[in-house]
Amino acid sequence: IKREKIASIIKSTNFNRNVTVMGWVKTFRNNQFIALNDGSCMGNLQIVVDFANTPDEILKKITTGASISVSGNLVASLGKGQICEVKAETIEILGESDAEKFPLQPKKHSLEFLREIAHLRFRTNTFNAVFKVRHALAFAVHQFFNEKGFVYLHTPIITASDAEGAGEMFRVTTLPFDNTPKTETGEIDFKEDFFGRSANLTVSGQLEGELGAMALGEIYTFGPTFRAENSNTARHLAEFWMIEPEVAFADLEDNMNLAEDLLKYVIKYAIDNCEDELAFLSNRLTEEDKNKPQAERSEFDLMTKLNFCLENDFERLTYTEAIEILKRSKPNQKKQFKYLIENWGADLQSEHERYLVEKHFKKPVILTDYPADIKSFYMRMNEPDGQGRKTVRAMDILFPGIGEMVGGSQREERLDFLQKRMDEMHIPQDELYWYLDTRKFGTAPHAGFGLGFERLVLFVTGMTNIRDVIPFPRFPKNAEF
Ligand code: 4AD
Ligand code: MG
Repeated sequence: IKREKIASIIKSTNFNRNVTVMGWVKTFRNNQFIALNDGSCMGNLQIVVDFANTPDEILKKITTGASISVSGNLVASLGKGQICEVKAETIEILGESDAEKFPLQPKKHSLEFLREIAHLRFRTNTFNAVFKVRHALAFAVHQFFNEKGFVYLHTPIITASDAEGAGEMFRVTTLPFDNTPKTETGEIDFKEDFFGRSANLTVSGQLEGELGAMALGEIYTFGPTFRAENSNTARHLAEFWMIEPEVAFADLEDNMNLAEDLLKYVIKYAIDNCEDELAFLSNRLTEEDKNKPQAERSEFDLMTKLNFCLENDFERLTYTEAIEILKRSKPNQKKQFKYLIENWGADLQSEHERYLVEKHFKKPVILTDYPADIKSFYMRMNEPDGQGRKTVRAMDILFPGIGEMVGGSQREERLDFLQKRMDEMHIPQDELYWYLDTRKFGTAPHAGFGLGFERLVLFVTGMTNIRDVIPFPRFPKNAEF
């Protein structure tokens, strides 16, 4: 099909030539002006209809949501905010749309409403912008690692291992719902199942990624991961995409540097390559802010926030140092933090993270050396501190407005330490024999992290609900299409 993309002509001054464009009708004003969008950009191309010479049959089918093909002359536009327009010579209706029934009316819809018609929300400017930025960020991730010589390793989606040891897995089975074979003790007999054992959707590609890193040196994964956890929040999905680099001969400091470099690189890529989309999203946020009470409005606009993140070093401190900061907060605030302050070893809640990132440092923060008890088995154990408290070489990167964006660690490369830790945490060594083999044969210090891709897209687009930055969100009671 011969046609030109609206993106390639909307800013053009190459006038007085014949063009054919195709797209969906956003609005049709006064039987004269069509705002046409083909998805290639957010802007609409104005089509000027020759009312007198266009059959009624066609005119009445130019409705919001209909798809049309237009051929005509590209001319300079006198209209405000547009350089050019097309004087239609022929208009063909490709697909009709009953304006009465089409859920997307030419007005501003709430994100909540658009979530209910998620199959059609792609046609709005907001989601056009969000998914273009998402695409750019994904591309930038691959470019970053490719430039550094990392190998993109495809780790499995179906796996037997529970990498995080948190038991939040979706089971994969072909066994019938009824009359499932049972063992003598009444348990499901997975020997009869497709894989001859129980299998799950992966929660993380890390353990398999470590196998790659311990041979190829530097790898990363970038794929879907699944968690059967409570994902009824604005920050959690049951299916999300994760970027997991793993580097041999690297320690926690290398790991922090890599993560900070990656984040700055991809944010800069989006700023440089998604100018129109980010301007639109920034404007959207500013408009939305105007309807909020003063206290809830954001201090900075989106672009300021993104640039600020590029220009400043992330703050790096340990879990224990973070607690000290919470202790020194104003009395009122401190009262709220009482439990954590008095219970070294407890996990940080979002109010603590928000205080550190949004109130105290006002920039991304890397917290390291968490208490061993609240972290996964594979993290490298530190020497106990003066008070005998055990910590691990963990790092979480916390972002303003987002909370945890990255979770990672230097890995426990010492076989005896790892085995001891697995026993303590009831993680069966025989099932992870393949993982332990990397420590038996040529073990080496190594480190890696997981970056939650949707949380990155949230930050860069300024959206507030994670369900609005993935095309097909999966959460409890939602897996229709
Ligand atoms: O902190 P997590 O659980 O770490 C891991 O899975 C490690 N195996 C990563 C590694 O070291 N290779 O998850 C990593 C990141 C989190 O920081 C968060 O950004 C994101 O993944 N994440 C989620 N994003 C959306 N929905 C969920 N349910 C998420 N759970 C984690
Ligand atoms: Mg984590």
